[in-house]
Amino acid sequence: MAFVVTDNCVKCKYTDCVEVCPVDCFYEGPNFLVIHPDECIDCALCEPECPAEAIYSEDEVPAGQEQYIELNAELSEEWVDNNITEQKDPLPDAAEWDGVPDKLQYLER
Ligand code: SF4
Ligand code: F3S
Repeated sequence: MAFVVTDNCVKCKYTDCVEVCPVDCFYEGPNFLVIHPDECIDCALCEPECPAEAIYSEDEVPAGQEQYIELNAELSEEWVDNNITEQKDPLPDAAEWDGVPDKLQYLER
């Protein structure tokens, strides 16, 4: 079991989540973050930190967003050189994109 970053992170990327992770298992892409499922220890610390409420336990991912479970696994390998452990500024239009549904189409990789 692991925690999963889901749709509402896309184009927001607030990065509050990375500061609390005890095992530094967040990886960064251009407009999204992912959690490496083999490194996550399931501590749940990151979930309440996300202003966009985009982080869920794998077994609580909202209906229709199940594909993010596989995406976190896949992209954490693709972005393995982009480990992120310190908070940075969110993306410039984060406030406008926060809550917009179906942002998978905008995910850059
Ligand atoms: Fe890191 Fe814990 Fe969140 Fe997993 S659940 S990504 S170990 S803070
Ligand atoms: Fe994304 Fe939320 Fe972290 S928007 S970068 S999962 S704080």
